[in-house]
Amino acid sequence: MPLLEASSLETYYGPVVALRGVSIQVEQGAIVAVLGANGAGKSTLLKTISGAMDPQTGTVRLKGDEIQGLNTWDIARRGMIHVPEGREVFSHLTVRENLMMGAYTRRDRDAVAGDIEMVYGYFPRLREREKQHAGKLSGGEQQMVAISRALMARPDVILLDEPSLGLSPLLTKGIFDIVRRLNTERGVTIVLVEQNARLALEIATYGYVLELGRVVLEGSAESLRGNRDVQEFYLGQREAGVRGERRWKRKKQWR
Ligand SMILES: Nc1ncnc2c1ncn2[C@@H]1O[C@H](COP(=O)(O)OP(=O)(O)OP(=O)(O)O)[C@@H](O)[C@H]1O
Ligand SMILES: [Mg+2]
Repeated sequence: MPLLEASSLETYYGPVVALRGVSIQVEQGAIVAVLGANGAGKSTLLKTISGAMDPQTGTVRLKGDEIQGLNTWDIARRGMIHVPEGREVFSHLTVRENLMMGAYTRRDRDAVAGDIEMVYGYFPRLREREKQHAGKLSGGEQQMVAISRALMARPDVILLDEPSLGLSPLLTKGIFDIVRRLNTERGVTIVLVEQNARLALEIATYGYVLELGRVVLEGSAESLRGNRDVQEFYLGQREAGVRGERRWKRKKQWR
């Protein structure tokens, strides 16, 4: 049984359809990348899975239980935390207070202090900044706060929406290294939405490609890295001579 399974999700913004029957499976311990161009539906998929939006139809199962329609708080308590696009930190709270907010679903208050030390171990920068207001931090530091706050809930699964957005290549690499370590060292399962397909497929075990609200391709990260359409459209390895042919092939295969 997969840890997380979304089946035939259809999600709307008013009359506008954003997911047109999306199904994904996430095995325990996996890092699953969700790739796709602007507007493909990646963020909507994470919002629908995390309870921030309700699907019109379809199911979401976490550890076998149906969770669609539950709110984000209930879903967080069941072990799945969403780090939304644009790293929403509480700007007027300090770094430490932000981390404490992440533990709000937990009953084991005594262990919380130890977990703050644990996240400072991953992000030493946050220890230096712990008394500063989160709104005063750089974009990279805010992303660290957002991920750390998620960790404070001791989640089984983290849904990460574009952690590299607006970060320098160096900071992005640092964040991705830590995502990988959280997966290997702490066994956190990760669903990673990312426009930087190259980076995402470096750390992912499996991936899905979304286009216009549909899954058009899926497979092991290795197979996606080797896929010529992925190379052309998402890894930037365009070969002028074969572009037309690939477009045509893609249409035929994916639509
Ligand atoms: N609040 C909204 N109201 C109406 N339509 C929306 C809203 N948010 C997203 N959409 C539409 O839903 C579709 C999917 O958007 P979504 O944000 O999920 O895409 P995305 O893959 O995350 O894109 P990006 O890479 O730009 O973050 C798009 O057509 C978008 O215009
Ligand atoms: Mg998005």
